[in-house]
Amino acid sequence: MGKKEPSLMDKLVSLSKRRGFIFQSSEIYGGINSCYDYGPLGVELKNNIKMLWWKSMVYERSDIEGIDASILMHPRVWEASGHVEGFTDPLVDCKVCKMRFRADQIDTEKGCPNCGGELTEPRMFNLMFKTFMGPVEDEAHVVYLRPETAQGIYVNFHNVRESTRKKLPFGIAQIGKAFRNEITPGNFIFRTREFEQMEMQYFVKPGTDEEWFEYWKEQRFQWYERLGIRRENLRFHQHGEDELAHYAKAAFDIEYQFPFGWSEIEGIHNRTDFDLSRHQQYSGKDLRYYDQESGEKYVPYVVETSTGVDRLLLTTLVDAYTEEPERVVLKFKPYLAPIKAAIFPLVKRDGMPEIAHKIEEDLRKHFKVFYDESGSVGRRYRRQDEVGTPYCITVDSQTLEDGTVTIRDRDTMQQERISKDKIYEFLKDRVTI
Ligand code: GAP
Repeated sequence: MGKKEPSLMDKLVSLSKRRGFIFQSSEIYGGINSCYDYGPLGVELKNNIKMLWWKSMVYERSDIEGIDASILMHPRVWEASGHVEGFTDPLVDCKVCKMRFRADQIDTEKGCPNCGGELTEPRMFNLMFKTFMGPVEDEAHVVYLRPETAQGIYVNFHNVRESTRKKLPFGIAQIGKAFRNEITPGNFIFRTREFEQMEMQYFVKPGTDEEWFEYWKEQRFQWYERLGIRRENLRFHQHGEDELAHYAKAAFDIEYQFPFGWSEIEGIHNRTDFDLSRHQQYSGKDLRYYDQESGEKYVPYVVETSTGVDRLLLTTLVDAYTEEPERVVLKFKPYLAPIKAAIFPLVKRDGMPEIAHKIEEDLRKHFKVFYDESGSVGRRYRRQDEVGTPYCITVDSQTLEDGTVTIRDRDTMQQERISKDKIYEFLKDRVTI
């Protein structure tokens, strides 16, 4: 029998480790389930994804401000938000092989999907991680690791509004870690227990929420073009009544066609006045907005856009991965690429390394670049293709004569000659977000 061809996911996991995108957490101890560490290239890609989102939400718009709230919050927040009571999944255990499943993801009538054994009755399992604040481990000192970043935004609604003098409609954006004790994490970094969210809550006048919901659905779908994701791999999925989260009146997911099937990468939710009303009730603070135009006071409605950084990183890896006869290429948008340019001396003599190092030093002030003088130029190109570096600059014998270098484009593999003094200008517009 021939050797089985590895799946696309296997190839991505292997490339991610080999080239320093993603490692298993605590690997030297055998790893810990569903926890991952981002390596030198992974952290660059992650930061670039976050910056692209932040730029489009906060810098390019005058109606959205950013915050960075703390992960640990007052425990009453999670009572008000409904997470203590409602953020649960039904859990079943196999009595034979002891494996655990989410009852809503399997056909429980058929028994255990692994061994066919009898399953326990479903019991509701809260997904929030619990810990204690301070040295005393009792109920009075319980705090939770936030399961979504959104609540840090709601409790700061008035702080942001007052300090920035914003009027409705306006939004608050945040990027930060969230934690969920998922019953079935998996598919590499797709579903993990610790992950990073990019969430934006847009506060609007009640009655205008449906219009804004449509607006944000479109805006967010279009944004994926900037992330470089192929249109045919994206679609909307509307939540049915039985899928809606406890806070939502309407919800659409943006789904991506992963090798393991269409799956959610972003949620757009009409959260109505649910969260602010509940915080008003639980905190006893007036969270209404005074509308100067109409003279009314009301609790704003909220349209939320919520996506996961890790999930988008996996999406960009899957979508960019291209196998060509002679090479593997990650065809990231140049501004997402971890390394923007690689600099090679054609040979290790005749002063070429010195010129190449000088170019490297100059570019390093602006971008993440990489110097490489080992192996043939062809092999050096292949190594950069595999990590998605959009441009490779080679110093050759002509450089010694006229000061020009070749710049090779990752996707077309075409080379052009430009003056070494013009490299920064060439790269600037192409590789910055
Ligand atoms: N505040 C709303 C909210 O959290 P969600 O649909 O539960 O909504 C939003 O999550 C996004 O967060 C998802 O579309 C996904 O990108 C990311 N996400 C949620 N759970 C995740 C997990 N366990 N691992 C990785 N990303 C996750």
